[in-house]
Amino acid sequence: MLSARLTVDTTAVVGPVPRRLFGSFVEHMGRAVYEGVYQPGHPTSTPEGFRQDVLDLTRELGVTVVRYPGGNFVSGYRWEDGVGDPEKRPVRLEGAWHSIETNRFGLHEFADWAERAGVEIMEAVNLGTRGVAEAADLLEYANHPRGTELSDRRRANGRDEPFDITLWCLGNEMDGPWQIGHKTADEYGRLAAETARMMRFIDHRVELVVAGSSGAAMPTFGEWERTVLSHTADLVDHISLHAYYEENGDVATFLAAGEALGRFIDQVAEIIDETVADLPGARKIGISVDEWNVWNITRFNEIDKEPLLTGGWLEHPPIIEDDYTVTDAVVVGSLLLSMLRRVDRVSMAAQAQLVNVIAPIKTTADGPAWRQTTFHPFAQAARLATGDSLAIEIGGDTIDGGTVGAVTALDAAATVDGDRMAVFLVNRALDDDLELTAALPIGWTLAAQPTVLTVPDGGTRLDISTADAEIAPRPLDTVTVEENTLTATLPALSWSVVQLKRDLR
Ligand code: AHR
Repeated sequence: MLSARLTVDTTAVVGPVPRRLFGSFVEHMGRAVYEGVYQPGHPTSTPEGFRQDVLDLTRELGVTVVRYPGGNFVSGYRWEDGVGDPEKRPVRLEGAWHSIETNRFGLHEFADWAERAGVEIMEAVNLGTRGVAEAADLLEYANHPRGTELSDRRRANGRDEPFDITLWCLGNEMDGPWQIGHKTADEYGRLAAETARMMRFIDHRVELVVAGSSGAAMPTFGEWERTVLSHTADLVDHISLHAYYEENGDVATFLAAGEALGRFIDQVAEIIDETVADLPGARKIGISVDEWNVWNITRFNEIDKEPLLTGGWLEHPPIIEDDYTVTDAVVVGSLLLSMLRRVDRVSMAAQAQLVNVIAPIKTTADGPAWRQTTFHPFAQAARLATGDSLAIEIGGDTIDGGTVGAVTALDAAATVDGDRMAVFLVNRALDDDLELTAALPIGWTLAAQPTVLTVPDGGTRLDISTADAEIAPRPLDTVTVEENTLTATLPALSWSVVQLKRDLR
C-alpha cells in the first residue's frame, strides 16, 4: 500500500475554470462525421440525418465547444464545397486521409448539429492550400448579416440569420511535415498574421487561435512559437498546443502523461511570456490545447497508415478507431487534471475527437452508440469542475514515471463553486492501492456518494467497454471526512471523484 497527502485550501485560487476546457473535435476523418454525428437512415436519426444517440451522448459528455472541420483535413478543404444544394455538392478526393469526401455534410449541417448539441463552434480556416481571401470569404459568408453576395448566398442556402461564429483557428498543425501546405514558422507566421488582420476587418468580434506546435517532441518546438508569435501576438488571442500520449510498451511513462502535458503547457506559457514581453501591442495570449488525448499513434504510423494511404479511395473508411482500456481512462483523467490545475494559462481545450475517431463515443453503422472508458473522466469533470480551480498541494509516495522521471502516485485537482467542492483523484500506481489523507478547509462534508473508475472485479487493466457491456464509475466506499480530514483508499490504477459541501452551521 502506498500513501499520499493532499492539502486543499479554498483561498488558494488558480482561476475560474473556463467552460471551454471541455471542448471536443469533429473532423471530416474516418467515421467521425459520416456514421458518427451524421447518418441519414439510421434508426435514431433525426429528419435532418443527425444520429440522436450520438447527440444524446454528446450532451451527457458535457461538451461545451467543438472544433471543426479539421485537423489535417482542413488544410486541403474548400469550404464552398460544403454549402448549397446537397445534391449538387462536388465529390472530391480528400488528400489528408485518402478518402472520398461527398461534402454531404458542411457548415450549415454542422451549425445545425452544434445548436442541437448545445455547443459553441470553433471553426478552422484552411491555411494549407488556401489563404487570406478564402478565410475572409468564409467569415463573411458565416457572419455578415445580409446585403453582400456571400451573406446573401448563405441566406439563399437556408440560413437567414448569421451563424455568428466568433472562435476561429488559423489553420492546423502547420509545423508538421505531414500537413498539406506545411510551412516554415516564418511563412506560417506571416500568413496567419495577414489572415488574422483581414478577419478582424471583416468581423471585429473574432477570437483567433494561431497554430503552435503539434507536439512537445517536434524539432521546431519553441522556435516555432517564438517566431509565430513575433508575427501575430498583436492579432491573436490563443496559441494552440497538441498533445497525444500512448502506452506503446512503456506503461510507466504513459501513466505519467499528465505530468508530461503539464510540463509542455508550462514551457509554452514561459515562451509566450518571454516572447510577448518585447512585443508592443501584444494581446493576452491563452493556451488552446485543442487536440489532446490518448492515441496509439505508433500503431497508426507503422501499421495502419500505409494501407490507408495506398489503398483504394473509400467514403469514410474507419480510421484510428482506438478501443480505450481502463488504463487509458485513468490517463485521460490525469491529462484533464493537469489542465484543470493550469486554468490561469489554459484558456480552452478540445479532446480529439468526439466520435469513432480516437473518441469517447463509438458507434456502429447499423447499431447503437456507446461510451468508451474514457467517456467517464471527461463527463464527470465537465459536470463537476465548475467555479474556481484551486492550487492544491500533492505529496506522498512517488512511483517510476519512465522517461518523465519519478512522479507522485497521487494526481489530483480540486474546484470550488460556492458551497460545493469537487476533488478529482487519480492513483496512477499500476499495482498498489493508495492510502490518502487530505487536509480540507473547515466545515466541509461529503455531498454525494464518491465514485471510482478502475479495473473491474475479475478483469484486467486492458479491459474495454463494448456496446453490450460498459465499464463505468462505481461507488467508492472507502472515503470518510472527519474534522477537516478526508481519508480514502484509492484502488490501484483508478480515477475517483469526491463531492463535498460546506456545512454552514
Ligand atoms: O486528430 C487526428 C489528427 O491528429 C488531426 O487531423 C491532426 O491535426 C493531428 O495530427
